[in-house]
Amino acid sequence: MAKRQSVKSENKPQADNELQKPKGKLGVMIPGMGAVATTFVAGVEAVRKGLAKPIGSLTQMGTIRLGKRTDGRSPRIKEFVPLAGLNDLVFTGWDIFEDDMYTAARKAGVLERDLLDQVKPFLSTIKPQKAVFDHNYVKKIDGPNVKKGKSKMDLAEQVRDDIRRFRKSSGASRLITMWCGSTESYIEPTAAHQSLKAFEKALRENDEMIAPSMIYAYASLMEGVPFANGAPNLTVDLPVMLELSRQHEAPICGKDFKTGQTLMKTVLAPAFKARLLGLNGWYSTNILGNRDGEVLDDPGSFKTKEESKLGVLEHILQPSLYPELYGNIFHKVRINYYPPRGDNKEGWDNIDIFGWLGYPMQIKVDFLCRDSILAAPIVLDLVLFLDLAQRTSELRGIGIQEWLSFYFKSPMTAPGLYPEHDLFIQMMKLKNTLRHLKGEELITHLGLEYYD
Ligand SMILES: NC(=O)c1ccc[n+]([C@@H]2O[C@H](COP(=O)([O-])OP(=O)(O)OC[C@H]3O[C@@H](n4cnc5c(N)ncnc54)[C@H](O)[C@@H]3O)[C@@H](O)[C@H]2O)c1
Repeated sequence: MAKRQSVKSENKPQADNELQKPKGKLGVMIPGMGAVATTFVAGVEAVRKGLAKPIGSLTQMGTIRLGKRTDGRSPRIKEFVPLAGLNDLVFTGWDIFEDDMYTAARKAGVLERDLLDQVKPFLSTIKPQKAVFDHNYVKKIDGPNVKKGKSKMDLAEQVRDDIRRFRKSSGASRLITMWCGSTESYIEPTAAHQSLKAFEKALRENDEMIAPSMIYAYASLMEGVPFANGAPNLTVDLPVMLELSRQHEAPICGKDFKTGQTLMKTVLAPAFKARLLGLNGWYSTNILGNRDGEVLDDPGSFKTKEESKLGVLEHILQPSLYPELYGNIFHKVRINYYPPRGDNKEGWDNIDIFGWLGYPMQIKVDFLCRDSILAAPIVLDLVLFLDLAQRTSELRGIGIQEWLSFYFKSPMTAPGLYPEHDLFIQMMKLKNTLRHLKGEELITHLGLEYYD
């Protein structure tokens, strides 16, 4: 009997030699030097100094299976694809407060003083540049370190100057912008966001529908710098940004880091659907006491976060395909600002499911997590993968990097496409993208060839 052929990728694999090796330094520019940003940068420095391990980072600790299960080939991801090394990373940022990264990290209260003091010489050299800020978009905070300009276009030009200056002073050969700023108030896209022409006109006319995060995004993409959005605000999830991203071959991705409660949701919900267990209700509530929690105490910022968190179940459970199981779900998400908890959030979930013959059951999840500890490795992976995307001919011009959905609560997709939220589908998509880029066979888990 002829040997069964293993399933080959339909897509043309990219030849290995097209993946350029990184040369020189990679500059990471962070609007919003708060808890997440400082935990990320302090962590990178601690790992570089051998003080701690990069736990939670796929690029640093993850492996990827290649070929058949019997082949025994599972290299580390960072050895399989040419990623920048941690020693190549250099940093800058913008914030409305003047604190350097050491002071900001102390105030954020995520990492212990003992560890922070060991990386203090490095952290204290990173000082925030003046921010583009609009109090109407983040009502709960205000600070002195803010740019002034005649128009939003003028502010965008100033950010572009900052970027050019950093490129020069740091000697970085490549740059990435990573939004770690506060969650901005909820808005919906308008005509101003539909094309470059309309957007630039709106910048010149100080259109109120242009949020500060969009100004950083515009400036970055105009400078050919990829942009990732860690918050749920629209920012790069707009036709104008897709246009710019493609034009300047600067990849984009977002929105909203998938860290605590939503991570759990996108693990549990696919399990219910896989076993055809019904769902009546899912009540999620959180207490957190960091600055993010304070900002989210404002209804405008909360609405942006709520939309991001609510979409997940609908997309995973597909109620239109399974109306008897998921046609009538009560889904509620609450965030309560509770200062004593600081960054150590507690997220409770009460889940009402039903099984065989409609019999009800309940699941309770109580996740005592550390928000920024979960977010920091995501930031690192996104920096390294976005840089890889820009060095890869097949990815750099496509705009949205859907293969990075794995990291987001509200993943961006091509217009008209629904997002994949299931964590394991997202991981398969990410790893298959890497296999594809290296000309390796995609793994479909068919596995019939083992039984020939
Ligand atoms: N930590 C998590 O698990 C997690 C998960 C998903 C999303 N996020 C999002 O990531 C973002 C950062 O979270 P965090 O915990 O570090 O919050 P944080 O409040 O500690 O830090 C945000 C920083 O952004 C600054 N800022 C606000 N507007 C700015 C602007 N226009 N320009 C420059 N700086 C600005 C603030 O001054 C603050 O220092 C938030 O939007 C949060 O919702 C965090």
